[in-house]
Amino acid sequence: MTNKHQLISKLLSVFASWEEFLAGIDENEIDVQPKPGKYSITEVLAHLHAWQQVSLARLEAAVLNKDPSYPEWLDDADPAYVEDHIDEFNARIQEIYHAESWSARHREWSEGFLSFIRLAETIPASIMFDSERHRWLGGNALAAVIDGSRIHHQEHLDSLRSRLRSATNWSTRLIHPAGVPPRGFSSLVTPVFRGSTTVFQHAADVRDTWNHDEAPYTYGSYGTPTTLELAMRIAELEKAHRTFITPGGLAALTLVYFAFLSAGDHVLIPESVYGPSRAFANDILRKLNIDVEYYDPLEGEHIVSRLKASTRLVWCESPGSITMEVQDVPAIAEAAHSQGVTVALDNTWAAGVFFEPFAHGVDVSVQALTKYVGGHSDLLLGSVSVRNDSLYRRVGETHQHLGMVVSPDDCSLALRGLQTLHVRLRTIEQSALKVAAWLAQRSEIERVLHPAFPSCPGHATWQRDFTGSTGLFSVVFRAPVKKAHLEAFMDRLTLFRMGYSWGGVTSLVVTPDLKEAPNAGVYGDRLVRFYVGLEDPADLIRDLEKALPAIGK
Ligand SMILES: Cc1ncc(COP(=O)(O)O)c(C=O)c1O
Repeated sequence: MTNKHQLISKLLSVFASWEEFLAGIDENEIDVQPKPGKYSITEVLAHLHAWQQVSLARLEAAVLNKDPSYPEWLDDADPAYVEDHIDEFNARIQEIYHAESWSARHREWSEGFLSFIRLAETIPASIMFDSERHRWLGGNALAAVIDGSRIHHQEHLDSLRSRLRSATNWSTRLIHPAGVPPRGFSSLVTPVFRGSTTVFQHAADVRDTWNHDEAPYTYGSYGTPTTLELAMRIAELEKAHRTFITPGGLAALTLVYFAFLSAGDHVLIPESVYGPSRAFANDILRKLNIDVEYYDPLEGEHIVSRLKASTRLVWCESPGSITMEVQDVPAIAEAAHSQGVTVALDNTWAAGVFFEPFAHGVDVSVQALTKYVGGHSDLLLGSVSVRNDSLYRRVGETHQHLGMVVSPDDCSLALRGLQTLHVRLRTIEQSALKVAAWLAQRSEIERVLHPAFPSCPGHATWQRDFTGSTGLFSVVFRAPVKKAHLEAFMDRLTLFRMGYSWGGVTSLVVTPDLKEAPNAGVYGDRLVRFYVGLEDPADLIRDLEKALPAIGK
């Protein structure tokens, strides 16, 4: 059963379809009669305008006739309005038909239809659907008059569309689909808009800009409605000015490096940084004559002594990869800002949820959306969120130059992931805390590196700055333990799978490669990283319990 809201929104939707159709037609076509006896577009428009005027008058008359108290705006209307004014309507048709310019004809119709919709909106639903009230409408409620307008407009639109299409050859028609979004269709899902080429309606609109403040869509690389919807959702999540989506988390990190560094510049990176970020800085940035230095992640405000006149960027990653040090980001940001240096953060561990980057002084926040936002181990995406407009321009230009394009299909999966992020994170948080607590009391384990545990470096900072914890943590086994023992332990696990990319539903385990994570070297070869997913934590603990004897003590 249709309600008033649905009735009006369908009417608005057919109006919008007509407007879109009229915006796209060629003015040479408007007076052409396709065949003798078949109406031209102008004739159809004039006819629809007259129809609309009659329908409008019927609504006005009906409401006034039966409801003299409602509303005042019709005080001077007459119930016999339609009959009395038929000549006037005919004159208006002629006016539209013979109007000097196409835009005047178009405007007449458009204004008439809009007044009808506005009037329909003011009628209470109780009156609109009451068929007793307006018997002279032939037993129909006002709703039928309103819906009749929609149907009539839709029928003419469909027939005009098919007429224009049928004037071309079939091979051409296959290349030029109607291409109109199905306005009558509405679903809860953000549609996947694919497209490399964005077509412009008018020659004057043709331009090439990535900046969405200047033009909404100009080229597929700069975003489709699907990719930009994801960017908007991440910006909301992290309370950012704007967000860019990148083809992966590492691509987001390299975008920031390229956006802020040039030859001769100095960058400070925490020792605990994600391995491939370190490899990029060492292999690519150094080749480009960028001065790369690493700092102790727990350095806090003392980082000020590491800043040089050439420092342009300070990275944070909190907690750090593998060794999990929680950084004093506000202190580092304050020190960097005192020298005008930009601060970027890899905010992936907190999923953009449990740590507010911009409230803690960060300028640019990066996430591997591959992890918690995707949430199901089936996509690779990243994000770069910025604090203000000048950073937006800086990152946006580099994003364009590097051709950082993303698939709308992946973005659509990430949008789906966002809808369940909250419940997944809360469950993962609780399960990881249970598993970590169980490990902490085992004799084989010397130390649990989980930010919510006092044994984790920077735990007090986590308590101060974070609002929760997630599923990734490490443990240090008690010496002496050999790498071969850890491998035997991992081989015995059945629910914890061995793999790198965390954040999905499946629990994981890895031992770090010390070449990629030299910071883990302080723990020797005794460190194992766990990721707790969505399995029942009791089952995960049983899995660990069965495998731990492989440690051989
Ligand atoms: C902290 C952190 N940042 C960035 C990345 C890179 O993400 P992606 O795998 O999407 O390139 C990872 C991946 O493991 C990560 O752990």
